[in-house]
Order: sequence, then structure tokens, then C-alpha cells
Amino acid sequence: VNVAFVVGARPNFMKVAPLIAEIGRRADCGIRPFLVHTGQHYDAVMSDSVIRDLGMPEPEEFLGVGSGTHGRQTARIMEGFEEVCERRRPDAIVVVGDVNSTLACALVGAKMRIPVAHVEAGLRSYDRDMPEEVNRVVTDQIADLLLTPSEDAEANLLREGVPSSRIRFVGNLMIDSLLLALARVRNETAPFAARAKEAGLPYVAVTLHRPGNVDDLQDLLPILDGLDRVARDCAVVFPVHPRTAARLEAAGRRSVDEGPAEGRLAPGIHLVPPMSYLPFVLLLRDATLVLTDSGGVQEETTVLGVPCATLRPNTERPVTIDVGTNEIVARAPEAIEEAARRALAGSWKKGGVPRYWDGASAPRAVDALLADGWLRRRAG
Ligand code: UD1
Repeated sequence: VNVAFVVGARPNFMKVAPLIAEIGRRADCGIRPFLVHTGQHYDAVMSDSVIRDLGMPEPEEFLGVGSGTHGRQTARIMEGFEEVCERRRPDAIVVVGDVNSTLACALVGAKMRIPVAHVEAGLRSYDRDMPEEVNRVVTDQIADLLLTPSEDAEANLLREGVPSSRIRFVGNLMIDSLLLALARVRNETAPFAARAKEAGLPYVAVTLHRPGNVDDLQDLLPILDGLDRVARDCAVVFPVHPRTAARLEAAGRRSVDEGPAEGRLAPGIHLVPPMSYLPFVLLLRDATLVLTDSGGVQEETTVLGVPCATLRPNTERPVTIDVGTNEIVARAPEAIEEAARRALAGSWKKGGVPRYWDGASAPRAVDALLADGWLRRRAG
């Protein structure tokens, strides 16, 4: 069977790469995958280098949709993907995560009566102010096979009336990619870690890109104030997402540059360009604390055992709090400062690793794709 695997934005690549690799290892499994890149993210670093770091094949179809309003971006993806489906007639479609590409391609599949599997199904923040929440809820309603990363996700789906026959708990595919990457960089140190050590300074890694945090200066400024406080006693390393870069300039911050590449790391905020996957994994692994509003980073820090302060009012990944090292921290300067003080003092809670975040989710997911007759459901 021909199966279209859809990627669009940076966090999608880590979830699709282990699936494609696993299918490649099962030469006779009967699935012929082809990769469709919607082009929602199109920078060399946001897309190409990440694909390279993950050892993924080049996409066979590239829709090149670029940025736009949600309506326009979603519509362009649908238009492009429908054309791909008409031409290539896939037997099934696999979408991942919660970005606009996920929703758009799931909708095309549902309308064309092509079975759709959703990887990372069932996550809920119960906050419709997040565009991703709308994408999650709608995608899960129209997909035929829901592959969940955690037990809470399965419970959410059951509560929404999804029949259990459509749900498979396979674990977290992003962690398959993470563990592989960790093994590859085992003998390396984050460039910042070496320089921080030399200066006797710990470093805090930061990522911010949620519209709710960065689009309005009213939301962004208190966070920057918090970072300034943290940066008095340590280095703050902040790879800046393109959405955030323009807002930082509007907030009167110097624009992003590499900073001094050599020498000891001084206290202060170091704004650096977005990183590719392997250097970013190193950055997280060697950090004393990670401050973030990303979904994936909450999961990665849990597996790495690195303290994570999530600067959001809620999370769709509660298992990272219940089991892992994650904590919701208020977006107020004092709260951010206090969190950093605890992490720097070594008194952050210790966490464990959630069930099935073990690097073996891809085999379980491919078993699910092959096993339960979901491909035939639409036809029958
Ligand atoms: C998208 C996803 C979000 C995900 C995030 C990860 C949606 C609704 N949001 O948000 O769930 O966590 O990706 O990164 O799908 N830009 C570039 N180069 C790029 C990509 C984007 O310059 O390669 C610019 C765009 O012009 C735009 C901004 O960054 O101004 C935001 O891009 P957009 O695609 O709207 O969404 P993200 O904020 O990246």
C-alpha cells in the first residue's frame, strides 16, 4: 500500500523520521511510504538541516505553501495536498502533531475517503486560544486511527466518545528520535556548555514562539524582564524562532547574532539563530534549566531529566508534570527568577520517564498501521 506521510513544520520531522526508518527496516511489510512536505516551515534551518540531522529521505512532494494567516495557510495546504492525492492515489495518509499541515491534510483525506492515521493523537490543553488545540480536536474527530503518546491522551479521546477500536497507545515517537540523536552526540558537548564551564557559569536554555507569549509586547515584555533577572547570574542561551525574532526587535532587543563564538560565556542573554536538531539536543542535555513554551521541549527535557519551566498557563502534556521534570511557571518576572534560582541551586524536583517513552514507539506504531484492518474500514 502507498502511504503518504505529511510533514510541515519543524516539530513534525522528529515524529515521522522513526516511522520511515522502521518501515525501511521491514522491507517486506507492504507499506510504501512517500513523504509530502507542505512547506509550512521553509527556512534552511527550520526544515532542511533538521531533515538532514534526522537522516530522513528527501520529500517526494513539496507544496511550498509558506506562511500566511491560518485560513490562507490551511487552504493552500489543502489545495496542494488534494492535488497530490488525486495524482498519487495514496491508500492511506499519516499526519502527525498539531500544526496547520496536520489539520489540512487530515481534512483532505477525510473528504476524499482516504484513511487517515494521526500520530500524537489525544493531547488536550483544553484551551481554544491555542490554534494547535483546534487542530488537535478536529484532526482526532476525522482521523480513522489514533496513535497516542501517553495514557492521558487515550483517556481524553475516550471521554470525547471516540471508540476504543480507533485508538492505539504506541508511545512517544519523538523520543525515538531523541534517543537516537543522544547516542550520536554522546561524546560531544554543547558549544555553550564548554564555554560556560570555563567561566564557572551555568547556562539556561530558552525557546519561545507561541503567539500567546510573543505576538504582543504586553505578553513578551514581562517574560524578557524575567530572563534579564535570570541572566544576572548565568548565561541565557536563546535560539530565536523566526516568529519571535521580529518581536524581539520591536521590544528593543538587539537582533539575533551568533555572539562571540569563542571565549568564556559571560552572564547575559545570548540570542542565537534557530538551531538544527543535533546541536539543539546537546543544548538541552547540558542545560541547568530550560525555559520554554514548546510542546516537544517539555517532553525532551523529561526524558533528559533536565529541569523544565513551561511558560504557559497550561499544557497538553500533563504527564511531563506528573511524572517528569516539567513545571508550569507563571509568566511574571518574579516567578521566572524564582524557578531559575531553584534549578541553579539543584533543588528542582527529580522526574521519571513516562510509559512507552522508551525509543521503541516506531515498531509499535508500524504494527498498529499494519494490524487492525483500519485501512479497509473506509472501503467496507
Ligand atoms: C508552527 C505551529 C506550531 C509549532 C511551531 C513549531 C501552527 C498553527 N503552528 O508555529 O504548532 O509549535 O510551528 O515551530 O501550525 N517563518 C520563517 N521561516 C520558517 C517558518 C516560519 O521565517 O521556516 C516565519 C513565518 O513567516 C511567520 C512565523 O515564522 O512569520 C511563524 O510561522 P508559522 O508557520 O505561522 O507558525 P509557527 O509560529 O512556526
